[in-house]
Parts: sequence; C-alpha cells; structure tokens
Amino acid sequence: MPRALLVDDDTNSLSVMTELVELEGFSVEAASSVKDARDLFQRQIPDVLITDLKLPDGSGIDLLKDADGLASTDVVLITGHSSVDTAVEAFRLGVTDYLTKPVDVQRLKAILAHIARAGALKGEIASLRTELRKLGRFGPMVGVSPIMNEVYDLIAKVAPTDATVLITGESGTGKDLIAQTVQQLSSRRNKPMLPLNCAAVSPNLIESELFGHERGSFTGADRTHKGHFERASGGTLFLDEIVEMPIELQSKLLRVLETNTVHRIGGDNPIEVDVRIIAATNRDPAQAVKEGKMREDLLFRLNVFPIHAPPLRLRGDDVQLLAEHMLKELSEAEGKRVRFSQAALDRMRAYEWPGNVREMKNVVHRAFILADREIGLECLPEQIRGLSPAQAPAAAAPMGDGIHVPIGSSVADAERRLIMATLDRLEGNKRETAKVLGISLKTLYNRLSAYQEK
Ligand SMILES: Nc1ncnc2c1ncn2[C@@H]1O[C@H](COP(=O)(O)OP(=O)(O)OP(=O)(O)O)[C@@H](O)[C@H]1O
Ligand SMILES: [Mg+2]
Repeated sequence: MPRALLVDDDTNSLSVMTELVELEGFSVEAASSVKDARDLFQRQIPDVLITDLKLPDGSGIDLLKDADGLASTDVVLITGHSSVDTAVEAFRLGVTDYLTKPVDVQRLKAILAHIARAGALKGEIASLRTELRKLGRFGPMVGVSPIMNEVYDLIAKVAPTDATVLITGESGTGKDLIAQTVQQLSSRRNKPMLPLNCAAVSPNLIESELFGHERGSFTGADRTHKGHFERASGGTLFLDEIVEMPIELQSKLLRVLETNTVHRIGGDNPIEVDVRIIAATNRDPAQAVKEGKMREDLLFRLNVFPIHAPPLRLRGDDVQLLAEHMLKELSEAEGKRVRFSQAALDRMRAYEWPGNVREMKNVVHRAFILADREIGLECLPEQIRGLSPAQAPAAAAPMGDGIHVPIGSSVADAERRLIMATLDRLEGNKRETAKVLGISLKTLYNRLSAYQEK
C-alpha cells in the first residue's frame, strides 16, 4: 500500500484530508508542524508528501529543502491563496503538484491516482533490479555491465513518465528491445505500442500512415483511413528510423507533438490524440541535423530524454552472458544440449561485433546448428575464428573494474552506484560488500532498503 504523509496545522482539515487520502488506497500518517513531519520522515520515507505551505514553525517548502531522500517522494503543496512566486519556487524544488484551499477533491483524487500508478510501477522496477542481480537481466534485456546498468537506470526513470524518448545506437544494439521495455514499464502498458518504421514505408505513404486520410482525398483513397496517431491514442507510438522521415513531414509531426491534434489528409477537423512517442535511430541525430536530413526543432522536441544503446564491444563480460543466454534458449527450444568451448568464448570476447547483439544471435545460431555438443573454433565464422589468440585476452580487458559517475551526479547517486556495483561484483554477498566498502552491515541494509523504495 502506498504511504502518504499529511502535514497541516489545522486539525479539522487534517482529519478530512486523512479520510480522503485513505479512501484512495493510501496508508496515512499525519503531522501538524515541520518538526513533527521531519521526525516521521526519519522513520519512513512516504510515497507522497502532502503539505500545507504555512505551518506554525516554518513553511512546507522548508521540508522540501532539507528532507533527505525526498527524491523518490511526490510532493503536493497546499496553499491558502496561490502566489505565483511560491509556485515557481516550489516547482524549482521539485514539487509534483499544487493545490489551493479549499481543496478540489476531484483534482486531489486525480493527483493521487497518478501517484499510486507510478508507485506500482516503481515496485515493479525494484523487483526487476533484484532479478537483475540474480539472473543478469532487466526484463527482456540481458546484461549486467556498468554501461548497461546506466541504460536500465534511464529506462527505470523515464518509463513511468509520459516523456518522449529518443533511443540512439548502432544497428543491432537493442533499440527495439529498449523501446519495448520502456513501454512495458509505463502506465500505458495495457495499451498498444504501434511501430512505424519510417525507412520501410514509401515516403509518399508515410503521411497517410501517420495521420490518416479522408475518403477521396487522393486517387486511391477509397475509404477513410485512421492513421497511427489515432490508432495508438492512449498508448505509445514507436517511430523507428526517425531520421529517414521526409523532412517536410517532420514539420507536420512536430506540429502534432506540440498541439496533440492531428488532421487527416483531406480533413478539416482537428482530432485530439493522446500518444507517447518513442523514437529510434541508428544514425547520429546531431549529424543528421547538420546534413539537413533532420529538423533541429524536431530533434529538440524528441530529445527530451535520450537513451543511448551502447555497442556490444563496450559491454565486457556481457558478451559471454549474452552468448550463453542465446545458446541456452536454442538448446531448450531444440532439445539439443550444446556448450561453448573456452577457445570459442575467448575469440567471441575479442571480436568487435560490428553488427552487435543481432550479429551475435546469428553467429550463435549458426554455431549451434554446426556443433554436436561443443562449439569449437571451427563452428565460428572466419572473421571471429581468424583472430589470433594473442588478440583475445588483450581486447577482452575486464569491464566492471570501475564505475562511471557522470559529472553532475549527486554524491548520493555516486554512492548508490558504488554500492550496487560492489554488491554485483561480490555476487550479492552483503557482509563482504560492507567490508570492502568500509561501512557497517546495518548501513548497507539501510541504503539497500532505501534504494528499493525508489
Ligand atoms: N540486451 C539484450 N538482451 C537480449 N537480447 C537482446 C539484447 N539486445 C538486443 N537483443 C536482441 O538482438 C536483436 C537485435 O535487437 P534490436 O532489434 O532491438 O536492435 P536495434 O538496435 O533495434 O537494431 P536496428 O538498428 O537494426 O533496428 C533482437 O533479436 C533482440 O531481441
Ligand atoms: Mg530496431
């Protein structure tokens, strides 16, 4: 059950609000001052903090400023009279929403429903992280390298929101799979995700595919046709190979994204649509802008939340993990037990994989067919087999010996990365992890349970 912390010094309104919020399926704790709220906060971080702005010993905003761990808490501020300055300040500090007194019950309900849904998704993401540590996969995505962990972090952050996602990465790195994972962890998961490959549809059909057309709007349009935007409404639209979209259509797309309405070809009436966009490309979008293939304003609009799928050659030990995973799936499907020889694994690790995971899938499949019991070098294609053994260990430098902490990260975030990476490396052994990190086991447990809440 999601937890709410209500803070208000007016006992009447506190008890009314408590009842309302409980009815929405939250367990509620109540406080009447900044100090009380802080005390409760120390004990347990709530999913949502609903606080009055004016409190006897300070302002609800003070709570936002100092409360540790508020990052995962949604904050709803209530004020007697709305003041623009406070609102701006509040949003800057990360307030989720803003209510004025007397509280509009319908609006409160809508806010809480959204928070509860996002809370359920957070729970699911937490269980995926546990699965990642145990099984080496995040949903359908196999891999535990630090660089993939960064991808999972981004997916986990953006999925529950409605933000537009732009996935970049070389061919075969798993962009489709990332799009599916985002969709599966979003509140639109029960609605369709319609894909449209902009490179595969002929340029003069894309417009009608996207926006639809009215009967008779052009030769051959003998019926009204609903476009992808209309059909995906309520759900997600996956615009693959977005850079290949004809440039004049890109400005129409931008208009749709900005107004949330489409016009069918030959139609006069605007049709409202509610679609989340995930776009992907295996080109460098900034380069495409320079070359005049992509509109810069569209790129800005799509690039709200970029996710880069790293090439396989940067994923270190994941090469073996993925190969073993693929072989296991094949073995199970075909009822034939096959394993890799060490020599084959070494060469695969040394190889650059220009075609990334897709290329590996094909290589493993072919080797599986060729092999009786063990995949030796003779089952691998020439470009992999031909690598000199001397190349193998050098190129297969171990990954995971460091963690990557981008500048701009908070100290708390850096700490989380170090703790999780160490725990991973020590295969989940908490006692060892605490020892290596030089912290007490209790501190480690506290940190881990705080991360679970996120
Ligand atoms: N992390 C992963 N774990 C397991 N399978 C993966 C992973 N990444 C990719 N794959 C598999 O590799 C294949 C290629 O992935 P996908 O189609 O998502 O790549 P892509 O980046 O969209 O390629 P393209 O640029 O050609 O569209 C798929 O069969 C996919 O299931
Ligand atoms: Mg793809």
